[in-house]
Amino acid sequence: MQKYGVNELRRMFLEFFESKGHLAMKSFSLVPHNDKSLLLINSGMAPLKPYFTGQEIPPCKRVTTCQKCIRTGDIENVGKTARHGTFFEMLGNFSFGDYFKKESIAWTWEFLTEVVGLDPDRLYPSVYLEDDEAWEIWNKNIGIPAERIFRFGKEDNFWEHGSGPCGPCSEVYYDRGEAYGCGKPDCTVGCDCDRYMEIWNNVFTQFDNDGNNNYTELEQKNIDTGMGLERLACIVQDVDSMFDVDTIKELREHVSRLADAEYGKEYDTDVSIRVITDHIRSVTFMISDGIMPSNEGRGYVLRRLLRRACRHGRLLAIQGKFLTKLAQTVIDGSKDGYPELEEKKDFILKVIDKEEDQFNKTIDQGLSILSEMEAELEKKGEKTLSGEMAFKLYDTYGFPLDLTKEILEEKGIDVDEEGFQAAMEIQRKTARDAREVTNYMGADVTVYESIDPSVTSVFVGYDHLSYQSEITVLTTETELVDALTEGQAGTLFVGETPFYATSGGQEADKGVIRTAEGEFQVEDVIKLLGGKIGHVGRVTKGMVKVGDTAELLVDEETRALSANNHSATHLLHKALRMVLGSHVEQAGSSVNADRLRFDFTHFSALTPEELQKVEDIVNEQIRKHLNVKVENMPIEEAKKTGAAALFGEKYGDIVRVVSMGDFSVEFCGGTHVANTGAISAFKILSETGVAAGVRRIEALTAKGLSVYYKELEEKLLKASKLLKTNPDKLEEKIQHLQNENKALRSEVESLKSKLAKDAAGDVMDQVTEVSGVKLLAAKIEDVDMNGLRELGDQLKEKLGEGVVVLASAMGGKVSLMAMATEDAVKKGAHAGNLIKAVASLVGGGGGGRPNMAQAGGKNPEGIDDAVAKVPEVLKEQLK
Ligand code: ALA
Repeated sequence: MQKYGVNELRRMFLEFFESKGHLAMKSFSLVPHNDKSLLLINSGMAPLKPYFTGQEIPPCKRVTTCQKCIRTGDIENVGKTARHGTFFEMLGNFSFGDYFKKESIAWTWEFLTEVVGLDPDRLYPSVYLEDDEAWEIWNKNIGIPAERIFRFGKEDNFWEHGSGPCGPCSEVYYDRGEAYGCGKPDCTVGCDCDRYMEIWNNVFTQFDNDGNNNYTELEQKNIDTGMGLERLACIVQDVDSMFDVDTIKELREHVSRLADAEYGKEYDTDVSIRVITDHIRSVTFMISDGIMPSNEGRGYVLRRLLRRACRHGRLLAIQGKFLTKLAQTVIDGSKDGYPELEEKKDFILKVIDKEEDQFNKTIDQGLSILSEMEAELEKKGEKTLSGEMAFKLYDTYGFPLDLTKEILEEKGIDVDEEGFQAAMEIQRKTARDAREVTNYMGADVTVYESIDPSVTSVFVGYDHLSYQSEITVLTTETELVDALTEGQAGTLFVGETPFYATSGGQEADKGVIRTAEGEFQVEDVIKLLGGKIGHVGRVTKGMVKVGDTAELLVDEETRALSANNHSATHLLHKALRMVLGSHVEQAGSSVNADRLRFDFTHFSALTPEELQKVEDIVNEQIRKHLNVKVENMPIEEAKKTGAAALFGEKYGDIVRVVSMGDFSVEFCGGTHVANTGAISAFKILSETGVAAGVRRIEALTAKGLSVYYKELEEKLLKASKLLKTNPDKLEEKIQHLQNENKALRSEVESLKSKLAKDAAGDVMDQVTEVSGVKLLAAKIEDVDMNGLRELGDQLKEKLGEGVVVLASAMGGKVSLMAMATEDAVKKGAHAGNLIKAVASLVGGGGGGRPNMAQAGGKNPEGIDDAVAKVPEVLKEQLK
């Protein structure tokens, strides 16, 4: 048998099914599109669900793909054996109401035995217990003897995923030979050991499950098949596991080189090598689809994988950061099938590098928290770390349980693993509950699902702002109707519409739809599955009916203003890349008639200089009056122009490319100005962070900017009026006011201090002597703490040597202050303790240094007692 490589096998599969009339489609993004029931794409059929349910009409009734997939269900086992992995590629052929079991089984057999050249005697099919039809096909059509065809129950041979299309399946097993087996006498197909490997699953989706296990026969019978590319390669290349197939082996060896460790020698080392090899593949592919590390959902899955890889790098004693080096190898090994990896290389490497840096920081923090926990346990004489604590380390500092265990083992401490699992389970449950599941696609069931899938709408609004078309469907919020009458809200569909539906960050057009008998105000326009465009709004006059000819009129001003803002985001995108670097990728955008918002990947706040530069570049391109050109071209050709594409976006074979002079080229379906001059001017209002590594710029153009300046001008005029001046003199006036303010403030201060002095009157005659130390303890009227301190300084000066204690009430609050000269302190006086001893009498507390202390209180009535008590306390101190 020829030992084909992974990239070769992928090509062979797709070409084989192309030769059987299939349309080979590019792998869909790992991020599910319009499907809330899944976090990540986990099979070839997942992104094709709307074609199976009939909600959307497929581009061809026969489709074949090689789909990137991620399954993290048993992530804990990844590494422990060579069987588990999180990332894999699934080869599949699909029929949407076209061919069925007979063809599918025959092609499975033909591909495996004739194209790949597997030995037919080593292949064993299985069928669902009750599926005689499939059994007959294997037996009669293919010629497999009865004793080699296995029948299994629902557990093994019935494929379903929640509600929706499902059906019996037929799997093909390959006998890898005794060397891989468990050796037990009853070892055969279905045994848990590695001998009989399941390679291809043919699902016959002939039923629909209503969600309560009530099965009805589907009108449209489908075929959904799946074969793991890595598994196939493993058999074809006759190697032990997927970690030994060509591309993955190269990666595995790179890990070994970095760790200076040989694979296959020592179990623990192998575990770490496998974890890193698997996880870095998932990580690289996820980021290439625009997933960013975060603490929830997909982002969290990515973060866990990345940190786990990182930590195993430490176990292998790899020095320094290493993950980007490996990601580079992933990219080189897989770019043949996934060119987006090479296109997004800069970005992928930057995100990984940043996250690795960050984890290296938390790992140290985690270690110090762990030693605190240890000390705490020791103090209490305990020998077990609670599951909650272990989980906190896992969850907050990214510490896997085994790392925590390993470190504590040396100190004779163990970990409550059950408690850890329980805490983990709570979190898992929270994650599960957060995933809303409503219908098969995880979306709310809406009235739109009842519309005949053959009804579609064509957008003609690139060239027309008004158009005549026939009303094909009308709905209220809950049902399909034949007519809508005055005052009624609903959704209107036509064959061809000039109305732009919200998409690509651009808000929908507004406008009006008129028929001979009525008028419908369009408030929103939405894109629905199956190429339908719905005009949402209400009837403002008469009635509209299905079959009516309608005049569709787009509001021209809103459209033109949105175009200004949309075109400006293209200029902004390019300017950001020029100023900040090529790691800048569009992460989202939102434009309407009033303003624009642009989110992009970058790892720090922009400096004022950078912002200015970006703004200047955009304005320069506006002033250059660049012509805007729109072309439809095959995607491959478009890529060659260097056009910027969006992450995770589903592009067809023909894409729309918008270019502005030689300055900017982007894939874009939006509506634009004909010349950048129309944008007239561009101004950035703010730049903020919206998520880790994602920044947001908000800006204005054209009319939005005029409105903004107009408002600014009004504010300026109002402010000038308040200051009885004009905008030109405003600054001067403010400066003048500030100076005046400063002079007044200093006058107030000196008056206050004079007042305090007056209030003190001649207190010097209250000076007494306690054990040979001069003491001035006095009550002053209406002075605050600052005044009291100032006064204290003056009196101390006058006193020469000794202790000053002053108390005063102002606005119901008491201030108490004590000072002792150096000499008095030497003799035993302590201002802090003195204050402490008397403060309670004024309902307060306080203290301070030996030479200076102060306190506040709430009880002015207690001042006399406090002052009276001072000599007594001082006497005690001087003993
Ligand atoms: N959807 C089927 C599977 O994932 C082919 O096994």
